[in-house]
Order: sequence, then structure tokens, then C-alpha cells
Amino acid sequence: MARTQARTKTIRRWRRNMEVGDDKAYVDMLTTLSEGSVRRNFNPYTDIDWDSPEFAVIPDDPRWVLPGTDPLGRHPWYQAQPLDKQIAIGMWRQANVAKVGLHFESILIRGLMNYAFWVPNGSPEYRYCLHESVEECNHTMMFQEMVNRIGADVPGMPRMLKWLAALIPLAAGPVPIMFFFGVLAGEEPIDHTQKAVLREGRSLHPIMERVMAIHVAEEARHISFAHEYLRKRVPGMRARKRIWLSLHVPIIMRVLCSAILKPPRSFWKEFDIPKSVKREVFFRSPESRQMLSDVFADVRMLCHDTGLMNPAAKLIWRICRIDGAPSRYRSEPQRAHLPSAAPEAVARVAETIPA
Ligand SMILES: [Fe+2]
Ligand SMILES: [Fe+2]
Repeated sequence: MARTQARTKTIRRWRRNMEVGDDKAYVDMLTTLSEGSVRRNFNPYTDIDWDSPEFAVIPDDPRWVLPGTDPLGRHPWYQAQPLDKQIAIGMWRQANVAKVGLHFESILIRGLMNYAFWVPNGSPEYRYCLHESVEECNHTMMFQEMVNRIGADVPGMPRMLKWLAALIPLAAGPVPIMFFFGVLAGEEPIDHTQKAVLREGRSLHPIMERVMAIHVAEEARHISFAHEYLRKRVPGMRARKRIWLSLHVPIIMRVLCSAILKPPRSFWKEFDIPKSVKREVFFRSPESRQMLSDVFADVRMLCHDTGLMNPAAKLIWRICRIDGAPSRYRSEPQRAHLPSAAPEAVARVAETIPA
């Protein structure tokens, strides 16, 4: 009897958490995001002229050499390789990042659908989640087209995560807070990496430049939503659950981030890359450690602001090597970065697209 009551209480609480109508600021934020999705969105086949000659993938094109912002691209071993090998590695790696991105997005789409399934009538979260799913479907098509054009038969996510891919979206219904932290663990590293490449301002292959600029432009909304979703829910959690969550957040961040940034086993074998290089690049060298920490500055801020940064949680952030100062505001540029060229690259692409 007592058990049944507890269960009903949990379900009632879970349902109440999905009622957002009385929070005007939150509803306004969702309306702004949804209207933004209607006003400015991209289509992978009308906004990217795949068949124009400048988009052709041609052999020996040095624009595929990995940029200095890539942890492997700046490693002396990579830079000492002959140009054709640098190009081949660059094409494979960049195709695989796109493939991992679309695998991740596919999990996200399924999760958003599972979440939206339970949302009550009239909730503005339904509309926004659906807008985001549509955008992510377009991203997966855009990334797959890019992989196909590059022509490297890349596997994407590590095998283990591919097996789990069917289960992760199921969490979005019953434990959405955990799920949305997982969303940030995927979106933040991808967004951070793409912005860093665009900021570097080097001449990129037009496929890369266009795909990344479109992605960065739409991702800003998705990341905002995940942050605001969590800011609304986490502070109201019961103390015990919040402590439990605080200990798991850094682990989720680190595990998913590694899965996204680290190329799979077949990559190292295919290009005969020494183990010592692999270890240094992911993540023993001071630069790659710094990058790992920078990627999660906004998530650390979120955790500080929502009561998820207690001494034990801080220790786990440190053990996972993703500790550091929190951002002062979202997307605060890291001091070590070059002057930002990312907004210009995004604006360049945006200008060519009819409003
Ligand atoms: Fe995306
Ligand atoms: Fe996204």
C-alpha cells in the first residue's frame, strides 16, 4: 500500500514537472526560441549547393589538412607526416566527426520525441522540442551528405555507444533531467570544436565551412534550451536526488565528450599512428587538457548556479579532468582564443540565405 502511494506520488511529481504554463519567463523564452526556428532555419539541400564546382571533393586538396585547433592537427607527429597522409587523415577525421555528430543527433531526436510524447496539451515545450527535432533531422542529412561526398567509410561513434544508442533515448521520458545533461555533454563539445575551427579563420574546404557555420547558427538555440530546461528543474529537486545527480553530471560529460572527440580504434590502425601520440593527444598534453576543461565552462556555470557543485562533486569534476573556473556568462570566449571570427563566418553564410 505504502509502496503504491509512493509510486503515485512520484508519477504525480513527474507530471507536475511538465506543467510550465505558470512560469511566464520560461514560456516567453520558449516562444522566442520557437519563433527563431520559424524565422531562421536551414535546409540541407537548398541552402548548400552540393553540386557547384567549388564544393567538389578533389584529390590532394590541402584544405583538408587538420587545423591547429584540432588536438591531433597540432601534434608534431601529424605535422611531420607527408602532405598526402595529412590530407587523408584530415578527411577521415573530419568525416568521422560528422558521422559521430549525426549518430548523436539521431539519439537526441528519438529522446526529444519520447519527452514530447508525455508533455501535456498546450505546453510550449511540445512545439519547441518538435522544432529542434526537425532541425536535427536536417543536420543529420547534411552531415551524412558531407560524409558521402568525402568518401571515407567512417564508423562514427565507438561500437559500445552504438549498442547503447537504442536505450539512451528511453531515459528522456522518465528521467528527462539526466537526459538533458546528456544532450549538453554531446552538444557542447561539438559546438566548441566547430566554433574553434571557424575562429581559426584558416581556409577550409567550402563543404566544411558551410556545414559548420549552419550548424553553429542553429545549435545556439538547442544549447540555450537545454540550459534553460535544467535551470528550471534542477533547483526544485529533492536534496538527496540532487546530490546524486551532482556526482553523475561530470561523469556523463567526460564519458560522452571522449566518445565524441576521440576517433575510434579503426582510425589509429588505418593510419598507423603510434600509441604514444594517441595517449598524448587524448588527453595527456597540457593543450588537450585545457581544451577538455574549456569545453565544459558553461556546464560548470550551470552546475554552480543550480546547486550541483558541492565538495564531492567538485572532486569528481577534478578526477574526470574537466574542472576549472565556470564561465561568467554563456559562450564566454576563453582567454587563450584568437579574436573571434566565428560570428563573421556564420554571418557570411546567413547572408546568402533568404530570410
Ligand atoms: Fe545538430
Ligand atoms: Fe542540436
